[in-house]
Amino acid sequence: MSLPTLVEWGREDLGRRQDDLLDVYAEAMDVSPAAARARRPIVTAHLDRPGLRAVAATRDDGRLMGVAYGYLGEPGQWWHDQVGAALSRQDASSWLVGAFEVCELHVRPALQGKGLGRSLLDRLLTGPPAPTAVLTTPDRETRARGFYRAAGWVDLVRGLMFPGDPRAFAVLGKQLETPA
Ligand SMILES: CC(C)(COP(=O)(O)OP(=O)(O)OC[C@H]1O[C@@H](n2cnc3c(N)ncnc32)[C@H](O)[C@@H]1OP(=O)(O)O)[C@@H](O)C(=O)NCCC(=O)NCCS
Repeated sequence: MSLPTLVEWGREDLGRRQDDLLDVYAEAMDVSPAAARARRPIVTAHLDRPGLRAVAATRDDGRLMGVAYGYLGEPGQWWHDQVGAALSRQDASSWLVGAFEVCELHVRPALQGKGLGRSLLDRLLTGPPAPTAVLTTPDRETRARGFYRAAGWVDLVRGLMFPGDPRAFAVLGKQLETPA
């Protein structure tokens, strides 16, 4: 099996490859492809977001093996407002205002633990004009929790509940090096 190559995707690439992205999501999160594809409207809604950046890990034959994307969040967006309400006023001001919001980071299980997730995230976070990055992840001791901790992400909020989702989430943040 050839090793994946990292490529930056524009909005059109991400739009065109949404189903591939959701198939990687299904495998990585261990949910059915149908459940994953029900998230398509969420991805579609993100295609117009300011500061959208996406990085894909593809094999020579084009198969998507891992993917990461995010954008610059703004008030009025559902996730941004949910997270903003959970942060203290001071944390919201220092972590969320102008932040790059990481929406998805997934690696197919067969390739996990080989440095691909780290490469995708490093590439995604090299370049956004933002002082910080923020994300939410299930608040359990998953592989992702250990991965983010090792990459310098800190817990901002624990036990956050989103409407309609029975899982508790942690809000994580990371200071970014702003481009000169
Ligand atoms: C989380 C995920 C993206 C990480 O990608 P990955 O390719 O498996 O991770 P990497 O191999 O790049 O790991 C990089 C570093 O993270 C750390 N790390 C990874 N897993 C870890 C764990 N379980 N505990 C502690 N540290 C861990 C290690 O320091 C590792 O560095 P090393 O290779 O020098 O040991 C991937 O496992 C995944 O897709 N998981 C399922 C989906 C998911 O939870 N996505 C995130 C949702 S927010």
